[in-house]
Amino acid sequence: MGLVLAATGSAIGLGNLWKFPFITWDNNGGAFVLVYLLCIAAVGLPIMMAELLIGRSTQKSVVGALKEAVGPAWGLVGGWGVLCGFILLSYYTVIAGWSLFYFAKTVGWSMSGYPAGLATGDLFGEQAGNGGLQLMLSLGFSLATVWVVYFGIQKGIERIARLLLPVLLGILLLLLVSALGMSGSGEALAFIFRPNFAELEPTGVLEALGHSFFTLSLGMGAMITYGSYIPRGHSIAKASAIIVALDTLIALLATIIMFSVIFSVAGMAEQVGGSAVGMLFISLPELFYSEVPFGRILGPLFYVLVALAALTSTMSLLEVVASYIIDEHGVGRHKATLMCGGAIFVFTILAAISFGAVPFVTTLELGGALGDLLFGGKVGWFSMADHFVSNWMLPTGGLAVTLAAGWFMSRDATRSELSDGTEPAWFRYGAWRFFIRFVAPAAVAAIIVAVIFFGVDFS
Ligand code: PHE
Repeated sequence: MGLVLAATGSAIGLGNLWKFPFITWDNNGGAFVLVYLLCIAAVGLPIMMAELLIGRSTQKSVVGALKEAVGPAWGLVGGWGVLCGFILLSYYTVIAGWSLFYFAKTVGWSMSGYPAGLATGDLFGEQAGNGGLQLMLSLGFSLATVWVVYFGIQKGIERIARLLLPVLLGILLLLLVSALGMSGSGEALAFIFRPNFAELEPTGVLEALGHSFFTLSLGMGAMITYGSYIPRGHSIAKASAIIVALDTLIALLATIIMFSVIFSVAGMAEQVGGSAVGMLFISLPELFYSEVPFGRILGPLFYVLVALAALTSTMSLLEVVASYIIDEHGVGRHKATLMCGGAIFVFTILAAISFGAVPFVTTLELGGALGDLLFGGKVGWFSMADHFVSNWMLPTGGLAVTLAAGWFMSRDATRSELSDGTEPAWFRYGAWRFFIRFVAPAAVAAIIVAVIFFGVDFS
């Protein structure tokens, strides 16, 4: 169970608390949420099973696992995943660091009162643009991540996941109770759950699909790596269902909470529009002190929740990179963790200073057709890296996994791995095989085509 919790922790992260509410907002709720749920079930769940089964059947981390399960050339696909983990972790810790900043701020406000007339937008800009502060925050977060992974799977990752996940759920439920009591909760529920297909753009469908990879930690080997630690005799289908269901539940709860608050305040809905950053780090901090019942307690708790959710994700990212070095290059865990953590932090520095601190990095861009294709014309190191990972690395990695499990591995191999452990009643091997061979790759190929030909953006 520890590993399933750790994998759930990997899935639950900034994607659930930061990205999902924003894209749901941006795509007008209802219909988008329904499409997202379909993507999770038809693409996310089968790929989750595929990654876990590849990991468990070989008991190796991503590069070794793909080499052994499919063939030597597939080590390259594994390497692509390791690189993806490296890049993703390097900028993820910057956003995670913001949650530390807002935690400290809200604790201060709860104790000595919310400063009258504070412009939260300015506060956000100042902290993000303060290079020294950004380095400290992301360094703090990176050190916490290294610390966990340093102690290994059982004593580090599993233990922290067991400890943090219940805390995370507890905080979320407290927030939910408070939010449901607010006047905007009815409107929020209707916005999220009442589908109106006239309001869904085709690009929204692809955005839902792209996000399902990010939020489930698929397409870069995190679940292959974690799968390698799942003991024999445990049902992969059941583990996958638990991870996917909990991840989806948390994303929906977080969205209900945030929207209940936003709809409770006159004029807030119009103000939020702008960006994901706006919702979590500009609108909410103030609302905890003006609108939310028990906000003085819930405010700091909310940012603890964001930080904890992020930590259980960053540790899985570092584990992908470190376990590759450990398994394929024979380096010991302690040394490998420190080396990888240090190397990744060099790139974190670039991400940390790309919110105004260093103009050159903030305004960095690659022009022309290639820049548009690879980075969607994004400006600044952080945005470019996020665009490349979300639009290119995860979808291509995900496609490779569907091909590996659906077309390159034998029917016997996947069948026996999936039937090791008591299969849940809903599970049908034939159905899984159909989804992994046809439905999932077609859907992922659609994302890639959309990115290339229609310039759709999933980041
Ligand atoms: N699933 C994490 C989130 O939702 C992000 C992540 C992606 C973590 C890939 C690990 C691997 O925030």
